[in-house]
Amino acid sequence: MPTLTIDGKQVTVEPGTTVIQAAEKLGIFVPRYCYHPGLTIAGNCRICLVEVEKAPKLQIACNTPCADGMVVHTQSSKVNQGRASVLEFLLINHPLDCPVCDQSGECDLQNFYMQYGLYDARFQEQKQKKPKAVPLGPTVMLDAERCVLCSRCTRFTDEITRTGELGIFNRGDKAEVGLYPGKTLDNKYSGNVVDICPVGALTDRDFRFKARVWYLSSAPSICTGCSQGCNIDVHYVIDRPHLAEGARIMRLKPRYNPDVNKWWMCDEGRYGYKFVDENRIRQVSHRGQAVSWEDAYSSLAASLARFKSDGRLNEIGILPSAQQTNEELFLVRKLFKEGLGIKNCDIQVPSPAGTSDGFLIKPDKNPNTMGAALIGFPGASKPLKSTNGSSASGHIFDKALSGEIRALWVFGHDLVKLFGEEKVKALAASLELFVFQGSNDNGTARYAHWVLPSAVFAENDGTFVNVSGWVQRIKPCFAPLADSLPDAQVLLELARRIGISLSFKSAEEVFNALAAEMPAFGGLTYERIGLQGARVHQKEPAAR
Ligand code: SF4
Ligand code: FES
Repeated sequence: MPTLTIDGKQVTVEPGTTVIQAAEKLGIFVPRYCYHPGLTIAGNCRICLVEVEKAPKLQIACNTPCADGMVVHTQSSKVNQGRASVLEFLLINHPLDCPVCDQSGECDLQNFYMQYGLYDARFQEQKQKKPKAVPLGPTVMLDAERCVLCSRCTRFTDEITRTGELGIFNRGDKAEVGLYPGKTLDNKYSGNVVDICPVGALTDRDFRFKARVWYLSSAPSICTGCSQGCNIDVHYVIDRPHLAEGARIMRLKPRYNPDVNKWWMCDEGRYGYKFVDENRIRQVSHRGQAVSWEDAYSSLAASLARFKSDGRLNEIGILPSAQQTNEELFLVRKLFKEGLGIKNCDIQVPSPAGTSDGFLIKPDKNPNTMGAALIGFPGASKPLKSTNGSSASGHIFDKALSGEIRALWVFGHDLVKLFGEEKVKALAASLELFVFQGSNDNGTARYAHWVLPSAVFAENDGTFVNVSGWVQRIKPCFAPLADSLPDAQVLLELARRIGISLSFKSAEEVFNALAAEMPAFGGLTYERIGLQGARVHQKEPAAR
């Protein structure tokens, strides 16, 4: 365990630790282009120069192993001079196009130049011209003139995706990043090369020129694309009047979590956010007519109360969803199962296995299958094989088809896609009450008697449990679109009108009650979950 001194502070580190890592342990930031903790060391950009006492010249912190008794200076004038020289070399051929570069505002060439450069340019010759705006694949655009040849992107495709599309070709000032012949950058994680490119050489085709980064707000959240629950930052705009009716999410970026996704996320999750603003259900409606929430509350509460007073609670079926948060599912349980005593309340829908890859992408495309199972909806983790249209099968949908269930409340699922349009059409004609509560328009919403618009993850507060048992938090970025509301708010209002006492004022209060009642969540709070999540105590294997 070598002990060394960096900028006058002592630190003891594991053998094999490099100076850049030891400095990080002390909270000292050493600039870097090629170094990335998730990739092998390249040591080629030289911006991480530090002064090591007794060494004849400056050393690169990213590839210098710590030794006992080492004394390192990261801020001496010799170091700053060295970094300024490195920047001068890196910028010789760099175009002066910051005003039109998408990386502007989050570019490490700009950042480190402001810290260590600021000299008058001495280069009088013509700059090298290289290809600009070259699509590398469906997601990434290359501007070779801006590249500092750090090789992060090529190491990513070699080491993380092992797809090897990118290489550095030619030598000297003609060297440039590019695709191997016959290849396109079209792997399932291609967007990550944009995140790790420290300059504006690789930009995101989906985000290019949509917004300057200093207009973006950011909120930590969780990707809802599959049960892995990759940690993300949602970058959004809300105060741009000309965008009021347009997209609010500008992009999703992976957020580091060592236990879930490290630095990465898949393209499906990264670019799968469009549903937040597209194809949304904007109004509460009853048989195609827009109505107010007030009308919906009083009519639905009265219908539920009537089924109860007539002793027909076994004729009600509720289909919650593993897309819902733990807090919403807990309230579904409290209102429908425990409050009203409805037995037919479970996630009984088939969930066709999606693609998976042994890395981040999981076949279960629901973010909260594990949470749903832990909260008392076992159907979440048992895939429904098929329905045969007979109530003997015990499936809620089959009971509805056979007429045993007369009122059906569906959260988010598209029964048309799952069971076919004919069956849902027949169902809509025969049911006394058919409610669809969800965020986006689908076949079921078109047949349901009542349509209640739900908030999406970026408008909602709550938690999910991922496939490995990590409880993770989503936070609202902006207000729900149009008439939509978080399901929890709707369930609480319905409970109040039916006379079931559920007096929670926030998602956090619901979670606290859930944690007090459900052993798997015992002792957890929003504070303990924090930004990196916390594990549930008991793991229930998700079958999907
Ligand atoms: Fe580095 Fe970006 Fe150039 Fe790739 S494109 S070598 S990540 S600067
Ligand atoms: Fe050390 Fe590039 S970060 S040489």
